[in-house]
Amino acid sequence: MSITTEAELDGMKRVSEAVAVTLKEMRNYARPGMTAKEIDEYGGEILNALGAKSAPKLTYGFPGWTCISVNNEIAHGIPSGKKILQEGDLVNIDVSAELNGYWSDNGGSFVLGEDIHQHQALVSASKAILYKAIQYIKGGTRVADVGKLIETEARKSGYTVIRNLAGHGVGRSLHESPDDILNCYVRFNRTRFKKNSVVAIETFISTISSFANQSNDGWTLVGNKGGFVAQHEHTIVVTDHEPVILTAANEIWN
Ligand code: CO
Ligand code: CO
Repeated sequence: MSITTEAELDGMKRVSEAVAVTLKEMRNYARPGMTAKEIDEYGGEILNALGAKSAPKLTYGFPGWTCISVNNEIAHGIPSGKKILQEGDLVNIDVSAELNGYWSDNGGSFVLGEDIHQHQALVSASKAILYKAIQYIKGGTRVADVGKLIETEARKSGYTVIRNLAGHGVGRSLHESPDDILNCYVRFNRTRFKKNSVVAIETFISTISSFANQSNDGWTLVGNKGGFVAQHEHTIVVTDHEPVILTAANEIWN
């Protein structure tokens, strides 16, 4: 969407704070031995208390309030009661929701407890690359150049990117145009970011894989070559200068 009034900005701020607070609280709540379902139920209660509705449930009939992807799962992981989290797991929680007709999207990967499998470097690289990409965006910036920045930074850190997952416009629904804010350079994509538009920028930084495939459960995305992927996502408003990060309530993440 494009922000044209104060009321629209307020609406986007409220829903963005709801998803950001929910994500932060879910991460703080997560402990080894818990199931993904327990963490998801906790997140669902927070969203509900804030008056927000789960976006993946509303939009796609997703079997959970939030997406919880663990280890080799890249995204859209089902928060099942069979998924028991372990010390050192690479966990990604993605929270998106609707509140009063406004939609926002926020996600992040983290290491659960002690980093016994050395995932922290991947997590830190993904987070740093997200901030670098966000700072680079202003009205007129080419979407393709943001993809190039993410791909180049990932390569510098010794990683690849997932080439078929993307950030997207957001605001009046979960996924709006532009729907192709990829993590790689696409020469023929001449789309530019527009001032006052709301977009979700997300990284998919990978140890080995370059493509995401859907697994047999019909939801979970996994890498074509396995390995691990870290994702970090913020919903932002594009301006003439640095964007406004609407989902910054979890800024203390590391
Ligand atoms: Co998301
Ligand atoms: Co998204």
